[in-house]
Amino acid sequence: MKIIAFHNLKGGVGKTAAASNIAALAAESGIPTLLWDLDPQGAVSWYFGNTGDGDARVPKAGKLVKGKTPIGKTIVPTGIDNLDLIPADVSFRNIDLQLEKHGDRNTLADWLEPLGEDYGLVVLDCPPSLSRLAEQVFRVSDRVLVPLVPTWLSLNSWHQMQAFIADKKVDRRKFYPFWTMVDRRKRLHRQLLEQPPKELEQLMPGYIPYASDVERMGELRQPVHWFAPRSPAALAYRLLWRSFSKGKRSLNL
Ligand SMILES: Nc1ncnc2c1ncn2[C@@H]1O[C@H](COP(=O)(O)OP(=O)(O)OP(=O)(O)O)[C@@H](O)[C@H]1O
Ligand SMILES: [Mg+2]
Repeated sequence: MKIIAFHNLKGGVGKTAAASNIAALAAESGIPTLLWDLDPQGAVSWYFGNTGDGDARVPKAGKLVKGKTPIGKTIVPTGIDNLDLIPADVSFRNIDLQLEKHGDRNTLADWLEPLGEDYGLVVLDCPPSLSRLAEQVFRVSDRVLVPLVPTWLSLNSWHQMQAFIADKKVDRRKFYPFWTMVDRRKRLHRQLLEQPPKELEQLMPGYIPYASDVERMGELRQPVHWFAPRSPAALAYRLLWRSFSKGKRSLNL
């Protein structure tokens, strides 16, 4: 089982959109995939039609941290073949407090461990923060994909992430930035795409364009390639998926 996280310290940059589309593409390619909505905002859960309200299966942060919830009990189907979901819960707002209180005895790696027999891929959609949870995500993941809007502020959040990673001694070779929300009419976007800063060592090929089709996911509650399969956004997510499911960056899924 491989684990891919979508993370950026910066909010609203397309983490959830990418996590949702990549998980759906992985499932479609026949890989049993689990998408875990770690963000209490619950956007992934919304896209896949599970708002969690009143569902006893939705994981409570405190119980997970104390080891009182078997992870298998929190999984719900999405209705898409090969794709299951762990929905978000508002209690994840306090997960860092729980992790601080109950130590590191029961970590994200322990929660995920029993799933190896059922899933080939776990996709983690993360909230925008550099927290204890983020540190655990970085440790357990095989890849951390970081969507970056081509602006100087985004690069600043990349530097802050790099400092955090160095401080926590996480292997920085796991981190793969990719351009997102690209508007080629903007000079700065074109400039950064054509001459990416050297510190973006493992920049993924291609980019996710700024596209209203991505915004429509919220209305239609489907991955982009379902309702606009030939759109630039669908093609871009497909290229992103292909670039780590095949070729030199392959995860050997
Ligand atoms: N490529 C894109 N083109 C246009 N709109 C986009 C694109 N990607 C994401 N969006 C829109 O931008 C908003 C934020 O996207 P998304 O929720 O994926 O970001 P996020 O990084 O997960 O945000 P948060 O940090 O709040 O979790 C959403 O309304 C989404 O529809
Ligand atoms: Mg999000």
